[in-house]
Amino acid sequence: MRFEASRAAVATAAILVPWRTANRTLPGISDVGLESKILHVVSLTLMSPYPLLIVSMCIFVCPGWAQSGKVARGKYLAEEVARCQECHTPKLPDGQFDKDKWMKGAVMNIQPIEPIKGWHKTSPDLTRPGKLWAKWGELAFIKFLTTGNAPNGKPAEAPMPTYRMSQDDAEAIVDYLKSLK
Ligand code: HEC
Repeated sequence: MRFEASRAAVATAAILVPWRTANRTLPGISDVGLESKILHVVSLTLMSPYPLLIVSMCIFVCPGWAQSGKVARGKYLAEEVARCQECHTPKLPDGQFDKDKWMKGAVMNIQPIEPIKGWHKTSPDLTRPGKLWAKWGELAFIKFLTTGNAPNGKPAEAPMPTYRMSQDDAEAIVDYLKSLK
């Protein structure tokens, strides 16, 4: 993020430098109207390599911004809407989530009053280094969240909910899970 900010600063400088140069080098600048000053700076900027510089910088900076926005949205959807951590993060004796094991799989702390067939007592690790990522890969993860079906064509067993999310939401959540170490 700091790297992106410094690139944005360079882009801003690329706009400001010709402006200052034009103001300094224009003869009798104070006699000239603001309109022609602006025109002069615009033409100076357009003739210089700066537009190309700004466009090429955007090619690097913009996708980075879009990607970090997507991960943040995925984090919000996973943690605040679907609340994956309720079942996929272990809890400490005081009832708080064990932040060191965030989404790393857990022993369930809930059990049905009446037995439910196939009820799982544990949940798998959802983070990038986990076994599931190695086995499934990104596309299967997205498909699981949009269709509710694992790569074997079947839904997961209870109490894993069957989510049928939009492609966009599923991609954002998977990008977020991929960012977890
Ligand atoms: C109510 C508890 C609960 C919630 C909430 C929950 N999970 Fe699960 N999840 C489980 C359990 C239990 C399993 C193990 C079930 C199985 O292996 O069939 C599981 C399995 C999975 C699997 C592996 C499925 C398979 O077939 O092997 C994935 C992937 C998964 N969960 C992702 C998520 C994501 C992403 C979220 C949030 C968007 C989430 N889970 C929310 C309990 C939950």
